[in-house]
Amino acid sequence: MDVATISDVGNAGPGARQIGTTFGAEVRGMPIHGNVSPEALTQFVSYLHRYRVLVVPKAHVTPADLVAFSRRFGPLEIHSRFDNTLPAHREVFCVGNVERDGMTASFSRGVEQWHADSSYREVPSDASLFYGEIVPPEGGETLFADVTAAWRSLDPALRQKVEGLRAVHSLETLRQWGQQQNPDRAPDTSDQVAKFPPVAQPLVRIHPATGAKSLYLCPAVISHIEGMDAAEGTALIEQLIRHATQPRFVYTHRWQQGDLVMWDNRAVLHTASLFDHMKYQRLMYRTTVAGGAPRLAA
Ligand code: OGA
Ligand code: MN
Repeated sequence: MDVATISDVGNAGPGARQIGTTFGAEVRGMPIHGNVSPEALTQFVSYLHRYRVLVVPKAHVTPADLVAFSRRFGPLEIHSRFDNTLPAHREVFCVGNVERDGMTASFSRGVEQWHADSSYREVPSDASLFYGEIVPPEGGETLFADVTAAWRSLDPALRQKVEGLRAVHSLETLRQWGQQQNPDRAPDTSDQVAKFPPVAQPLVRIHPATGAKSLYLCPAVISHIEGMDAAEGTALIEQLIRHATQPRFVYTHRWQQGDLVMWDNRAVLHTASLFDHMKYQRLMYRTTVAGGAPRLAA
């Protein structure tokens, strides 16, 4: 079936096609720039709330358009590691193994590390937009876990156990994890760690727009669960992550150059995967919509 373009939303065409088992949708023909109509944007946001991960294939956007489009949702976070951002667009955080034009992409050879972006901020990011500027022909997929569906199918006794618990998210914990994974990399000397002291976040969060509950798990960022023995807390997080990342809750995005993917950090987790970084190039542009974004609230 041919999907209606999003500019036809007035005609209430389907517009989105589900691609994952429980979540994720492809939205073809979504214009990505700063002057998208309010109607198209509202429709896109309703898709995001419903599907949690949206893929716009062949978006082919410039960094300026990516930033202008992203800003329509709300203010953007700016990463304090300036060398990982585009000099002309500090809102664009670069991920990959490419160095050019005064920018060095943030590279980690880390194994799977499920997370939601900027969970160490007191008010974490609402959503992220991720664009494939240079993608390897194999590897380097981005995986998404539907922690909203995973919550719904969690054993009731376990649900009761975790509801009300809070986990402490710490940039220092993440820094230590990164150092372990990349021992040959210079230690992070940015002022980030001092800027973001550890913060407690609920283990079960409630989406402000949809009311849906989800599991908020970032194993490499969580130092401990409040009021719980450290080892017991780690074991609980691991048990929940194992449940939430079963294949039935995971959508794997295999990148084509020019794809744009937007995800709701309040409803899904994601992780990078490995690629042969000696053989291939990968360069991804990320914009990060700060928490409390007006357009994503309702
Ligand atoms: C990110 C991220 C995953 C990837 O940039 O926030 O988690 O596939 N990236 O690189
Ligand atoms: Mn991320």
